[in-house]
Amino acid sequence: MHENYGGVVPELASRAHQQNIVPVVDEALKNAAISKDDLSAIAFTRGPGLMGALLVGTSFAKSMALALDIPLIEVNHMQAHILAHFIDDPKPSFPFLCLTVSGGHTQIVLVKDYLEMEVIGETQDDAVGEAFDKTAKMLGLGYPGGPLVDKLAQEGDALRFKFPETEMQGLNYSFSGIKTAVLYFLRDQLKQNESFIKDNVNDICASVQYTLVRMLLQKLRKAARQHHISEIAIAGGVSANSGLRNTLNEMAKKEGWNVYIPSFEYCTDNAGMIAMAAHFKYVQDEFVGQEVSALPRMKF
Ligand code: KG4
Ligand code: ZN
Repeated sequence: MHENYGGVVPELASRAHQQNIVPVVDEALKNAAISKDDLSAIAFTRGPGLMGALLVGTSFAKSMALALDIPLIEVNHMQAHILAHFIDDPKPSFPFLCLTVSGGHTQIVLVKDYLEMEVIGETQDDAVGEAFDKTAKMLGLGYPGGPLVDKLAQEGDALRFKFPETEMQGLNYSFSGIKTAVLYFLRDQLKQNESFIKDNVNDICASVQYTLVRMLLQKLRKAARQHHISEIAIAGGVSANSGLRNTLNEMAKKEGWNVYIPSFEYCTDNAGMIAMAAHFKYVQDEFVGQEVSALPRMKF
């Protein structure tokens, strides 16, 4: 549905949550072959995210916990992306650094323990996922654009076109400059050749992806050296990107890192990661009361 609009439409997302939440929970219970009376707690995503969608989940979880008389657990979406690393083996050991890259966030997180995390660098404007999605949109590729750019980039020449890398202070990022650079670049090229995009789409995708990945990994390397940490993880939707995964593996060899890359199903948003994060709270009795409300800009 969102493809028609080139992005997520908050109101539509909210309605889709409303329509799907009961059948999805039903099916999850069936697949797990358990009844709701077997549940020991209800976890929900409190934030960060879109208010409408969060409200649906929060209200539903509160009612279900109340009805079943079991504890309620709030989960931070970004923390959950990181804790997805504890679903499968091998698991990172503490402390580790996690580059968390999604449609709304770009952060370098120092993970000291399951629930003890510190953001040591982050984007000051757009998220890297947005840079992928907007590039795709300018190229007329559809939504979400990240996976499409990734696919075409695999057939392209990453060094064909050069895009500027924005250098920010410390461990911070900025991805709005490259978006504008791509826009002007395409505008200029299209003036000379109407079919420029069609003729060069693979090389454009490869070159933009190359630049984004370089920006991400140079800061990650700086963070690793500064903090003397060689346990390095990536998480979030953009961690599915093949360019990022390959270049990270190469950098890991040079730097002597152990890298942790989630399997594809745990990169993009999934309920498994929310359950994993909730588990660590459950064992520490970290519950919330019925007064809890959704928090679209939730911090760690
Ligand atoms: O974590 P996620 O599923 O949702 C958010 O929490 O935002 O991340 C979605 C983002 C989108 O921007 C999407 O284009 C991007 O992850 N993405 C990718 C790839 N797969 C998903 N970006 C680049 N390459 C991919 N293979
Ligand atoms: Zn996410």
